[in-house]
Amino acid sequence: MNHYEQYANVTFEQQGQETYVTAAHADLELHGIGRSAAVFRIKDTRLVIKVFFPDYTHIAAEEAVIYRTLEGLPQFPRLYEAGVNYIVIDYIEGKTLFECLTEGIWIDASYIQQVDAALIAARSLGLTPSDVHLRNLILTPEGRIYLIDLARFRQGQHVDHQWEDLKRMYRFYRLRFMPKRYSERLLNGVAYLYRTFVNDPRH
Ligand SMILES: Nc1ncnc2c1ncn2[C@@H]1O[C@H](COP(=O)(O)OP(=O)(O)O)[C@@H](O)[C@H]1O
Ligand SMILES: [Mg+2]
Repeated sequence: MNHYEQYANVTFEQQGQETYVTAAHADLELHGIGRSAAVFRIKDTRLVIKVFFPDYTHIAAEEAVIYRTLEGLPQFPRLYEAGVNYIVIDYIEGKTLFECLTEGIWIDASYIQQVDAALIAARSLGLTPSDVHLRNLILTPEGRIYLIDLARFRQGQHVDHQWEDLKRMYRFYRLRFMPKRYSERLLNGVAYLYRTFVNDPRH
């Protein structure tokens, strides 16, 4: 039964590179927006619905397959429903590692290890993890890490090195004299340069 389909009727408006939500069901609260979708909390639940922008709806089915493959692993939200332009998954309370860096929240080595363990588990299930970056990693108040935005875990696709590159930068971050807080503008600037010259996740 498609219990949540009523919520997938979201309208968007594109302005240049940015996409904005123009209308959504009253039970939804916009929680995050990425490059392919908007993520809303669903009132009175512990769930979010990820509604894909019109040019990206095909990703819904692809991401649903990945969630089903990873079902039961502790570092991934659970999938509840998928439709032509949406998926419904667990709401993960916490902050993305991107937010941690802008707010000066310490990123512990144990978080890095949790991501590595999740990637090993995903690979052992035949997936090829990719697009693992600061905005796709959520730290919970209990110190657990969740990986989200999994469409680019599918088999046999081009593998990027973002996570390996981030780990290289983490070695500098840990040095005592390095700042532990960075402005959003600086991080977005670095991410832009990285996408443009090293690794464009849209390709
Ligand atoms: N299950 C979730 N729980 C909490 N926040 C989430 C969840 N899924 C996504 N988000 C938030 O929404 C943002 C966009 O979601 P994401 O799946 O990364 O979309 P995109 O594919 O467009 O990058 C994330 O960076 C995160 O802040
Ligand atoms: Mg994302």
